[in-house]
Amino acid sequence: MQIREPYFSKVFKPAVFVLALVPLAVLGWGVWQDTLGANPIEYITRSFGEWTLRFLLLTLLISTLRRATGWVQCLRMRRMLGLFAFFYGTLHLASYLWLDQFFDWGEIWFDILERPFITVGMLAFLLMTPLAVTSFKAAMRKLGKNWQRLHMLIYPLSMLAVLHFWWLAESKSRLAMPQLYAVLLAILLGERLYQAAKRKWLASNSSKTSASRPSVRMAAKRA
Ligand code: HEM
Repeated sequence: MQIREPYFSKVFKPAVFVLALVPLAVLGWGVWQDTLGANPIEYITRSFGEWTLRFLLLTLLISTLRRATGWVQCLRMRRMLGLFAFFYGTLHLASYLWLDQFFDWGEIWFDILERPFITVGMLAFLLMTPLAVTSFKAAMRKLGKNWQRLHMLIYPLSMLAVLHFWWLAESKSRLAMPQLYAVLLAILLGERLYQAAKRKWLASNSSKTSASRPSVRMAAKRA
């Protein structure tokens, strides 16, 4: 699969960018029209939280999609989707600090220390921050191999994000949505484990085959 250039960079990618802003526009419209229900602050915080998680999963989906379909171009949207996850994560945190807690730092500190779902949410956000900060080409060049290592933080942070949602929902006995996100995340991480195991198996098999070839054995003996 391939979208012809310049349509991919001039039409498709900008269209995805605009689509990613729709949740923000819908919320803004809801505030304007006063249609967010009896507790608009809770509605806003929750919406931003869910969109953060959705964009995290979409970011993880990109590599799987590339492997499944061979659509290499989709990799060019990964950074944008990851940055949208951070964008909605920042709005989620800001709505908690500002709308929910009115910057009552004592209360916020208490929440972080005493409410496990807030503790893991905070941890997830803290792990997300260096990924956003280093998502640009200059940082990629500067960090070299360490860039890839650093960006593997997306795995534990996504697990913490699902756990954050799970613990919140558990206390309110509405586990269906976090269960769905947990299954989706397990599929995406499971596919990566499968690919890694396959690569290891192929590498060990090819080294065995080359070691059993007579020319290689002779070379090995001479060495
Ligand atoms: C990667 C980071 C995070 C993700 C993916 C995330 C995701 C979510 C999700 C999915 C929900 C539940 C939405 C629903 O009920 O439909 C939620 C709720 C909530 N999150 Fe987060 N969150 C993150 C970080 C944080 C941080 C850093 C804080 C605050 C320190 C926070 C505070 C809250 C609160 C207070 C709620 C409950 C809102 C309510 O019921 O009024 N989250 N979050």
